[in-house]
Amino acid sequence: MPIHENEPGSLLDRVNKEPCLVNFLESPITYQCQNLDLVIDYYSVTDLPSRLHEWTFNLVKSNLLDMYKNSQGGWNEQEKRAEMLAPQARYLIARSATDPTDLKGFLLFQMIQEETMDDDIMANCAYCYEVQLMESARNKGLGECLMGLLYQIGKHWKLDKVMLTVFKANEGAFRFYTKKLGFELDEISPGACLPRYKARLFDYELLSKPCK
Ligand SMILES: CC(C)(COP(=O)(O)OP(=O)(O)OC[C@H]1O[C@@H](n2cnc3c(N)ncnc32)[C@H](O)[C@@H]1OP(=O)(O)O)[C@@H](O)C(=O)NCCC(=O)NCCS
Repeated sequence: MPIHENEPGSLLDRVNKEPCLVNFLESPITYQCQNLDLVIDYYSVTDLPSRLHEWTFNLVKSNLLDMYKNSQGGWNEQEKRAEMLAPQARYLIARSATDPTDLKGFLLFQMIQEETMDDDIMANCAYCYEVQLMESARNKGLGECLMGLLYQIGKHWKLDKVMLTVFKANEGAFRFYTKKLGFELDEISPGACLPRYKARLFDYELLSKPCK
């Protein structure tokens, strides 16, 4: 029987009740590289201004609409909006240090439980639902910085791993996670737990990295 660790008093339950998950980091969180001089703001979904929600949603759409349309699940605007406004959703939003309206990219995550190959064990995951940058801010290490922050958050709150879903067709992102950041196929990813002829039928993989 699965262990429901998000029951009252469990680790995940306690973490999800925390209003701010980045208090242990120096504030403000900054990132400088090449011509980027950025501040990274943290928001719980309940504090996220609607203009920022619209901006994050539109960035996902402009970056990945074609990929979603070509995927098995297709593009479902309502579903994506609901996912991005889930009660436990947290955001890291990168913006210019000098002009707060000049937004560069964001990472959306939730602390959730995910299955493992052991029916009796669930894993506590810092799950990256989105990492999306404006085109002009890519290839300057900002994606690595945001993923690094999520890793630090997962580690600080004693979660088991950072996890995410990626379309196989998103070859650049796949390389970014695996070659640059050291993510590997999670044990429950189709490519890891199914015979090749079945795994081929899935258009995504699940990647993870332990928070050690
Ligand atoms: C994927 C993404 C978040 C990476 O962030 P980034 O700041 O550009 O990445 P970094 O600068 O930290 O790292 C770049 C490295 O990752 C690889 N990489 C990242 N995105 C790539 C892409 N689209 N094509 C090819 N390589 C890519 C490069 O090989 C590069 O390696 P290098 O540093 O050795 O040259 C960013 O490119 C992006 O927002 N892409 C569009 C949205 C997207 O696909 N999001 C992922 C959804 S799962």
